[in-house]
Amino acid sequence: MNNFNFYSPTSFVFGKGRETEAGKYVKRFGGTKVLIHFGGGSVLRSGLLDRVKTSLANENITFTQLGGVMPNPRSGLVYEGIELCKRENIDFILAVGGGSVIDSAKAIALGALYDGDFWDFYQGKEVEKALPVATILTISAAGSEGSTGSVITHETGMLKRAANSDALRPVFSILNPELTCTLPAFQTACGATDMMAHVLERYFTNTKDVEITDRLCEAVLLTVIKEAPKALANPNDYEARANIMWAGMVAHNDICGVGREQDWSTHQIEHELSALYDVAHGAGLAVMFPAWMKHVMQHDVMRFAQFAVRVWGCEMDFQNPENTAKQGIAKFEQFLTSIGMPIRFSELGAKAEDIPTMLKVLGLGAQTMGSFVKLTEEDVKKIYELAV
Ligand code: NZQ
Ligand code: ZN
Repeated sequence: MNNFNFYSPTSFVFGKGRETEAGKYVKRFGGTKVLIHFGGGSVLRSGLLDRVKTSLANENITFTQLGGVMPNPRSGLVYEGIELCKRENIDFILAVGGGSVIDSAKAIALGALYDGDFWDFYQGKEVEKALPVATILTISAAGSEGSTGSVITHETGMLKRAANSDALRPVFSILNPELTCTLPAFQTACGATDMMAHVLERYFTNTKDVEITDRLCEAVLLTVIKEAPKALANPNDYEARANIMWAGMVAHNDICGVGREQDWSTHQIEHELSALYDVAHGAGLAVMFPAWMKHVMQHDVMRFAQFAVRVWGCEMDFQNPENTAKQGIAKFEQFLTSIGMPIRFSELGAKAEDIPTMLKVLGLGAQTMGSFVKLTEEDVKKIYELAV
C-alpha cells in the first residue's frame, strides 16, 4: 500500500425528510447570505426548492437563487454565478440537484474568491480557496456530494475539464433517498454506471497488497449490481434508493482509492464523448469502460480474473485465467445492457468518423494517460474503435 493523506470533512445528513434541516446546517456552517443553485426544473416540479427556501427563511438566512444548470454544466452560467456572488456578497452556496448542479456550484465558489478567470483552475492552476459549498442531492451518480472534483464544459471549444481540491469538498451534504424516487429509469441507470466506473478507475491498479481497498471496491460494486435493478423495477423502493445513494458517495469520496495508484483514463476518454455529443456521462462510460477493459486486459489477466470471480461470480479457470477474465468483462456488458445502458457508439449516436476530432480535443500528442496501462494516442484511438 502506498502512503496517503485522506481528508474528507463533509458532514453527511442522511435520511427521509432531512432537507427541511437545510437552514439549520447552513447556519451551523456559517452561511449568512446564500446562493441557491439548481438545474433545469426537477426541483421546482418536486416542490423541493420551496421546502429548502422555507427552511432557510425559518432560520432568518437571506438568499438569492440561480437556476438553469444543464447536464454537462457549462461555463456561461458559471460566469453569471460568479458575478452574482461578487455583486451580492454571497458567502455560501447551496447546490440543490445532481452532479451537474454541484459541479457548477463548486466552479462558482472558486471564481467568487478569484480575480482571474475561473477556467484557470480547470487548466491546472492549483486551487487554494473557495466559498463553502453544501449540497442537497437529487440523483445518486457523480459522487460530487463528497468528492474533491468539479467538471465543467467551456463553451469555447466544448472542452470538458476537471478541477480537484479538498477545498471543493462540500461542507455538508443532505442525502434523502426519497428525493431520487422521481428519477427516470435512464438517469437511475446512468447513475449506477457512473458509480461503478468510479470504483473501477480505482480497482484496476498496479499497486500490490491493497486488500482493504480491493474489498471495499468489490462491496460497492456488488451493492450496485444488487440494488440498481430493484430501484429500476420499483422506483419507490426506499431501501434500494438508500443503498444506492450511499454507494454513490462511498464510490467517489476516495475511501476506496487511498493508498493505491488510480487510473482515470476512461473518464477522460468519456469526457470527449459527452462534450461532443452532450450524452449523459454514465451512458458514455457504459460504452467506453468495457472497451478500455478489452484493450488493457492482457496487462494483468489475474486482476481481471479476480474481478470476474469476486464481483461477477465466475468460476476460476485455472488452466486458462484469460477465459475467466474475458467472462468478467462479458458479464459487465450484460449487466449494463440489462439496466438499459448503451454499450456501443451507435446506441449513443456517436460516429466513428468523429474519432479524429475526439483525439484532437483530448490533445494527448506525444504524452500518455492513465496509470494501470499508460495509453498513447494510438491506444486511445483503438479503444474508441473497439466501442464502435
Ligand atoms: O436539471 P434537472 O431538471 O434537475 O434534471 C436533471 C438532469 O436532467 C435530472 N434529475 C436530477 N435529479 C432528479 C432529476 N430528474 C428527476 N428527479 C430527480 N430527483 O437528471 C438529469 C441529470 O442530472 P445531472 O446532475 O447531470 O447528473 P449527474 O449527477 O450524473 O451529473 C453528471 C455530471 O457530473 C460530472 C459528469 O461529467 C457530468 O457533467 N461528474 C462529476 C464528478 C465529480 N464532481 O466528482 C465525477 C464524475 O465522474 C463526473 O465526471
Ligand atoms: Zn464519473
